[in-house]
Amino acid sequence: MTGPSLTELINRRLSRREMIGKTALAAAAFGLGCRHSCTPKQQEATSSPNKASQPRPRSFTEVAPGIDDHLHVPEGYQAQVLLAWGASLEDGSDFPGDLSRITADEQRQRFGTHCDFTAFLPLPDLDGVQRGLLCVNHELTIARVMFPDMPPGRRASAPLLSQAQCETELAAHGHSVVEIRLGPEGWRVVPSPLTRRFDGGSTPFELRGPAAGHARMQTSEDPSGRRVIGTVANCSGGVTPWGTVLIAEENVDNYFGGQLGDGQERANLERFGIDGRPDFGFWRFWDRFDVSKEPREPNRFGWMVEYDPRDPKRPPVKRTALGRFSHEGAACTVSEDGRAVLYMADDSGMEYLYRLVSDGPASAGGHLLDHGTLSVARFDSDGSVTWLDLIHGQGPLTKEHGFNDQGDVLIETRRAADRLGATPMDRPEGIAVDPKTGRVYVALTYNRYRAPEAVDAVHPRARDAHGQILEIMPPGPQGHGAKKMRWDALIRCGDPARHEGTKYGDGLTERGWVSCPDNLRFDPSGRLWVCTDGMERDGLTCDGIFLCPVAGEGRAVPRRFLRVPTGAECTGPSFTPDGRTLFVSIQHPGAHYDATLAKPRSRWPHQKEGRPPQPAVVAIRALDGGIIGGDPKEGV
Ligand code: FEO
Ligand code: CA
Ligand code: CA
Ligand code: CA
Repeated sequence: MTGPSLTELINRRLSRREMIGKTALAAAAFGLGCRHSCTPKQQEATSSPNKASQPRPRSFTEVAPGIDDHLHVPEGYQAQVLLAWGASLEDGSDFPGDLSRITADEQRQRFGTHCDFTAFLPLPDLDGVQRGLLCVNHELTIARVMFPDMPPGRRASAPLLSQAQCETELAAHGHSVVEIRLGPEGWRVVPSPLTRRFDGGSTPFELRGPAAGHARMQTSEDPSGRRVIGTVANCSGGVTPWGTVLIAEENVDNYFGGQLGDGQERANLERFGIDGRPDFGFWRFWDRFDVSKEPREPNRFGWMVEYDPRDPKRPPVKRTALGRFSHEGAACTVSEDGRAVLYMADDSGMEYLYRLVSDGPASAGGHLLDHGTLSVARFDSDGSVTWLDLIHGQGPLTKEHGFNDQGDVLIETRRAADRLGATPMDRPEGIAVDPKTGRVYVALTYNRYRAPEAVDAVHPRARDAHGQILEIMPPGPQGHGAKKMRWDALIRCGDPARHEGTKYGDGLTERGWVSCPDNLRFDPSGRLWVCTDGMERDGLTCDGIFLCPVAGEGRAVPRRFLRVPTGAECTGPSFTPDGRTLFVSIQHPGAHYDATLAKPRSRWPHQKEGRPPQPAVVAIRALDGGIIGGDPKEGV
């Protein structure tokens, strides 16, 4: 039997929900947005690329590599700063005072910092105006460029911060939902009954699925093990076929301090990278972040959160059936028999790639993701991928090995995957499923931990500094529930002129080489876009976003579309359904380890003395309103 396609399911779901939401939305006032267009310097002057790299008609001229404090888009495009750290969620306007002194109460009401994942969810046009919800993660805070008088260095601020500053940091984490509308001058934020804000210190989350209520999830504050305050480290995410949004809890090990005890949880804490020396100072003020007092609190983080942006009354849920690890994001699709399939990555060196196949049909929605089969990938040198099921009682996942029930398997997902012989990977991050072919693309960003003796067929480079994008082929476009698939490398990254072991298609320009791939996203025309996080380490260029077709002429040939300011990563790309706007997060501009608020390495986007750098979501559009990256029907 062939199940409904992902698009069909989303459309069905949206048309049902839009009828409910329309009345309330029509009543929302139309507010004035604050917009900053880019200065002329931020648009690339067209330099003449060599003949082999001449862009085809209606395409774009690749942005040049380089390092500076500007956002660069190709000639003919414009970047608009839509929402910067501290902005009003009602109209997008900047924080009116000194951002370095923003209080926790103010921050809880405003756009958080260090934006990552974005999702654009269209709402029905209102009087011909295109509009939608923009859902944005706020991954972390970096105190040295957030507050006055902090020292440089990664962890140096943690012992010095006041409780009020730590409270502001927790408030700057989490997630924002705003409504945006497209007018003649670009996108603007408007007041909406759907505006929403989750943060790290005050938002309650339900815990559901097999590990909810487990003894190892119970704490003094929550003896039920079913309710937790806050979400942190929200990196990437995904949109489900039933219209909900998934937001991933990634580097949660950075949040817990204190002495590790010798009890049951010690090995678990260590396996999760919790060593009592966190980046953040929260444990100095709140017992739940101190593992000597609450050793089970970390078990309540590292999950995938699901919420319904069109139903603010429904609480967000941490779905334990999806496993506990450094969740990067979730690529959601539908299997041949109509079940939901989520591909998920654990972004740490030598960790794994996971898949969940729901028990029920994707069309059911609701609490569907509480019941399913979680599995982990083993890659073999014969070109096969095998999915190994993480089910209590099967194979080594038994009492004898410390797994008393499925809750234990999920709380210690990584250790369970170790036991099954999964393939340790080079930091899997972005995943995207090709809507046409069903092929699954996985970005392995880079991995300084793979020793020469640990290279294998899928990771042939020891201490790979540049990463790669894998291509996984299920048996057929919707064969996502299959036990076995095939794999190959789409590209192996790096500059072919300088680095060993690269792989690209024919026709790569001097500007098109890519390194440290992170988020992946297919645009509505079915072309793959690749965001990078880490290219500046190489000393030649800031990060950016690249168009990298996976089919036809130009397959596996990235082309550089955008370059971010110094210190920033380019992350969280999403497109409007017409392909004419690209939203992207500019995260941690100027946040080098030696930077402080007094001596920032960036003042993007305002470039004014005394202003800190502000992470922000930008909206990219072509000046002629055309499709981002050119219209593929015109040969691009
Ligand atoms: Fe937060 Fe793996 O990126
Ligand atoms: Ca990030
Ligand atoms: Ca990432
Ligand atoms: Ca990354």
